[in-house]
Amino acid sequence: MRLDKLVSNAGYGSRKDVKTMLKKKRITVNNKIIRDGSFQVDPAADVVKLDEKIIHYEKYIYLMLHKPPGVVSATADAKDETVIDLLDTAEKHFDPFCVGRLDKDTEGLLLLTNDGELAHELTSPKKEIEKTYFAKINGTVTETDIDCFKKGVVLDDGYQTKPAGLRILKSGEDSEVEITITEGKFHQIKRMFQAVGKKVVYLKRLSMGGITLDERLPIGTYRRLTEEEQSSLETLKK
Ligand code: URA
Repeated sequence: MRLDKLVSNAGYGSRKDVKTMLKKKRITVNNKIIRDGSFQVDPAADVVKLDEKIIHYEKYIYLMLHKPPGVVSATADAKDETVIDLLDTAEKHFDPFCVGRLDKDTEGLLLLTNDGELAHELTSPKKEIEKTYFAKINGTVTETDIDCFKKGVVLDDGYQTKPAGLRILKSGEDSEVEITITEGKFHQIKRMFQAVGKKVVYLKRLSMGGITLDERLPIGTYRRLTEEEQSSLETLKK
């Protein structure tokens, strides 16, 4: 791979920053000063140093984003701001993408990675990965709704959903609930409540595949997954 990409992906700045470092003869490959960003390096075999400090190559990036409403879960959009626009260049260089989608108005946990295999495991319908949401509902959610969701409800297109867990946190005309689903049909939760005559007015994802949204993460910000979180996801690959 290109030397400038490796240095940039390791978190040492943008490609432009790396160009300056190269010009200033700060970067060596196998103890030889290299000034050309397109110089090809083998991350597994070559020793790359910046100011005598070894740069460890990272291939994959795993991020947890506290998605705000109003941005779309896509890498590019002609009209709207995307979740990728919320990242710094240090992360953008990895070309991360969203693991599944949240609606534009949905908030909460969104995982971003450039690890295609992991993204596939987390979104494959066969894997039935659990996703838990907090929702505010216009209408009174009842024990009958809990039973209906447990059996699966029929959506507007005739699709019968898989069993979903529903917990009433606050009952009454404006109910609050926690719902866990194992699939990801388009607008699934909104359509499930529509099927029982109610309307979702607020939706926030709390967890996915065992990763819980870090509530210390202010809305609109992100952090890298911890080693522990990453290894818990790795087990899904097996
Ligand atoms: N279900 C929805 O209706 N919307 C989301 O964003 C996620 C799940």
